[in-house]
Amino acid sequence: MALDVQSIRLLFPACQRTIYMNSGFEGPSPATVVKAVQQRLALHSQEGPTSPHVLESGKALEEQAKATIAGMLNASADEIHLTHTTTEGLNIVLHGIPWRLGDEMLTVTIEYPSVMVLAMQVARRYGVKLRLVEISPTEPRASIVAKIAEAITPRTRLIFLSHVHYLNGMCMPAEEICALAKRHGVQVLLDGAQGLGNIPLDLHAMGVDFYATPGHKWLCGPQGTGALYVRKDAIEGLQPTFVSSHAATSWLPTGDWEPNDTSVEKFHLTTSSRPLQAGYMEAITFLQGLGLADIQEHNTLLATAMKQALSKIPNVQVHSPAEPPEATSLVTFSIAGQEPQAIVDALWQERKIVCRAIDPLRGVRLSLHLFNTEQEVAHVADEIRKLTR
Ligand SMILES: Cc1ncc(COP(=O)(O)O)c(C=O)c1O
Repeated sequence: MALDVQSIRLLFPACQRTIYMNSGFEGPSPATVVKAVQQRLALHSQEGPTSPHVLESGKALEEQAKATIAGMLNASADEIHLTHTTTEGLNIVLHGIPWRLGDEMLTVTIEYPSVMVLAMQVARRYGVKLRLVEISPTEPRASIVAKIAEAITPRTRLIFLSHVHYLNGMCMPAEEICALAKRHGVQVLLDGAQGLGNIPLDLHAMGVDFYATPGHKWLCGPQGTGALYVRKDAIEGLQPTFVSSHAATSWLPTGDWEPNDTSVEKFHLTTSSRPLQAGYMEAITFLQGLGLADIQEHNTLLATAMKQALSKIPNVQVHSPAEPPEATSLVTFSIAGQEPQAIVDALWQERKIVCRAIDPLRGVRLSLHLFNTEQEVAHVADEIRKLTR
């Protein structure tokens, strides 16, 4: 069903002031999310954060958030650990694997800096060999799978990749890569920073071992929210790096204790921000209420329209794939001879268009989301055309 975009826009204050095309960086929250955060903060202030009913409803909120996220991912709630960012989830996995000297980790050359630097740091720290598979952001899916297959060795322990690439929105052939990894007894960690809320996800069907997501991008939740999925039978093999009492099922002052090996709770630390969790929950409920499939269809249509409009402008090059499954709601373009940041600044200064530079492609990235309209797409394409003159 088509989204009622005009009604949706009324709930997003950012749409009244800007043409917001940067949800791949951070999505603006609807007013209902702000209200949920404020109400929870007010409750803590008015009733006291540890009054029994407040504590209890806070715990219930956390359980509800895990269950709801699990539902969106087709996972189960006991496979979900709430985090504050995608990168936190990636670190939990990479530092949690009991690496052996000489193990190998495989990633690709077009990765997001947090993937790349984290992989390099972990490789240095634990004596792991990092294999970098060279791919381009428009590499055909079959070629990506073939190159990864070729790079797997008997020492490969982990394949660590973005699910959707930040450069241009290219969606990786995750199912094929997971199936390939499984045949070789290799685990897969996907950076889902650009996945959840942007493309449909079914993690159980995909067969991925670990999947890290944010709340503040395509879900339009508050900063400081996110979730890590750990496949149930992969939990035991992962060590908690930051530890609280949740990492034990029992312990005594004598030093006797039972580690909590099999529950995702072992990654849980101490105090969580209930106001942020309330906002996160509200953001998810809001999107689910509208229908994730309808949102994704809307976004894809807009992204396709944007690519078509941009490709008609002389001196403009579109760097994003044309159609799903490679294409998502991110559109990256460049203007011959122009600096990406200068384009971003020009679009913002006069026209209040929010987007970001993608330096490795010397491009600019537009993110199309539920509150964007066909009129905005036409207007932005027109403004880009003016910049080419
Ligand atoms: C592919 C990718 N990975 C990781 C991140 C970092 O996300 P977070 O701030 O949730 O750690 C981003 C942010 O843009 C991203 O695009």
